[in-house]
Amino acid sequence: MRRGSRDAPGHVVSSVVAAPSTGPADQQSSDDVAEQPAPTPWWRSAVFYEIYVRSFADGNGDGVGDLRGIRQRLPYLRDLGVDALWLTPFYPSPMADHGYDVADPREVDPLFGSLEEFDLLLAEAAELGLRVTVDIVPNHTSDRHAWFVEALAASPGSPARDRYLFRDGQGDGSEPPNNWVSTFGGSAWQRVPDGQYYLHLFAPEQPDLNWRHPEVVADAERTLSFWLDRGVDGFRIDVAHGLFKDEQLRDNPGPPSTGTFGVGAGEAHSWNQPEVHGIYRQWRRLLDSYPGDRMAVGEIWVADPEDVARYLRPDELHLGFNFHLAMAPWDGPAMRAALVASTAATSRVGAPATWVLSNHDIVRHVTRYGGGEVGLRRARAALMMLLALPGPVYLYAGEELGLPQVELPDDALQDPIWERSGHTDRGRDGCRVPLPWDGSQPPFGFSADAGGQPWLPMPADWAGYTVAAQTADPASMLEFYRRALALRRELPELSGSLEWTLEPAQEDELLSFRRGSVQCLVNLGTGDLPRPAGQVLLASFPGQHDGLPPDSAVWLRNRGESAL
Ligand code: GLC
Repeated sequence: MRRGSRDAPGHVVSSVVAAPSTGPADQQSSDDVAEQPAPTPWWRSAVFYEIYVRSFADGNGDGVGDLRGIRQRLPYLRDLGVDALWLTPFYPSPMADHGYDVADPREVDPLFGSLEEFDLLLAEAAELGLRVTVDIVPNHTSDRHAWFVEALAASPGSPARDRYLFRDGQGDGSEPPNNWVSTFGGSAWQRVPDGQYYLHLFAPEQPDLNWRHPEVVADAERTLSFWLDRGVDGFRIDVAHGLFKDEQLRDNPGPPSTGTFGVGAGEAHSWNQPEVHGIYRQWRRLLDSYPGDRMAVGEIWVADPEDVARYLRPDELHLGFNFHLAMAPWDGPAMRAALVASTAATSRVGAPATWVLSNHDIVRHVTRYGGGEVGLRRARAALMMLLALPGPVYLYAGEELGLPQVELPDDALQDPIWERSGHTDRGRDGCRVPLPWDGSQPPFGFSADAGGQPWLPMPADWAGYTVAAQTADPASMLEFYRRALALRRELPELSGSLEWTLEPAQEDELLSFRRGSVQCLVNLGTGDLPRPAGQVLLASFPGQHDGLPPDSAVWLRNRGESAL
């Protein structure tokens, strides 16, 4: 049995999830969740859209996406029907990890634009009703950050080194201080010419900060205030389960959790330390001191959903990505287990689960779900599932076009993972290929200047994926996303509580849940399934069909008396 950690399967598991407190269908509140204050903050149910800035739109023709390109495409995003944007780091950076190595967190890299350009973007987005959130990278800096340059120039034991994690090696000094490994491969320790080592849980160009140093704590708050003062609506916190490390930097007890995801007991000393919660309490107070429901979502790659929920207690982060669902295969019991475990955990702390299927670090879900026509069908069904669940949804730029993961040639790969793994792991470039906007050949309108070479090569056969090719084609993925997003806004039922509506025996192939009078059914099996009575509000499959074909979903309006 693949029933894993699901809890209380039954005919109707009511009020598994606390829903936002407004809306006509909000009659049932969960026993173990306090009433939410009204009005419901926007972020509890918003649709966010992740823009990997390098890859979205290139406004100056140099082959790299930038803030001007985003500004030019804001009307597209409004018409798509999303509520808010998440911009990946656009701060000055040597780009060893494409911007996640930040040299100055309170500036804009000239490659992406300028602060003035950012202010224009914010203002223009606001005019279109789009909120803007930005990425904060608190766990580490670039090795070109002024603090690290100073630390390298200083001697062992000096105060400048204390902002990072410098240590002597073990034995005669030639062994690293402990057994920690880098997420990108190899040891997490880099030796410097005077013999000391510094910690980098990612690339050597990303030294980890010492969060027990008051200047590190104060500087991060300065960064948050800097962007809040400019008017951002919130933040995505990069590796939010990082920051603090075991004070004695003890050896980790076991191997890292390869093959699964998220840190677990094997890496008990390098990640997910209790002290980090104190930082998020301070940040929550800072965010709450600003008007307008500013928010923060954490990237929390922690294996246990209960542990993830600890970051989402009412005085900590507002949201945390649910990677359990993103990592689940296309399989009924696995998906339901991910949904139930995560929603149960977050609802116990009064937070919504935050749904995401793709981002700039993971294989695009069209490909994960089987690729080709099958992958596209499943991706449509998965979108309907996400949009019908309570809680915010994060879309990743390009998923609305049905973009697959791209198999890039070796010489095009740029992700540091490729080199650090000794060319055994191709890294994440395949989900970061620039977006195709129009035209019949690369760069498909990505670069304003037709001569611009996109920073990653775009497949020559992407003409059918462009925004222009898909617009007004009712059968396209893009028009399907637009319809689904518009309908989600129009259906007041989708602010009601969630009920699972299945007998356990049916769960292997069918997911079914209800939000008030709207029922969402997803067929994860291989054969047609009968469909309960009801008005079809949206179907992921084309044409008329009396049942529910494999790899499809439907939203029905019914009163539930004829549940399957
Ligand atoms: C996060 C980012 C990833 C980056 C890493 C190091 O996981 O999403 O892209 O490489 O942090 O900053």
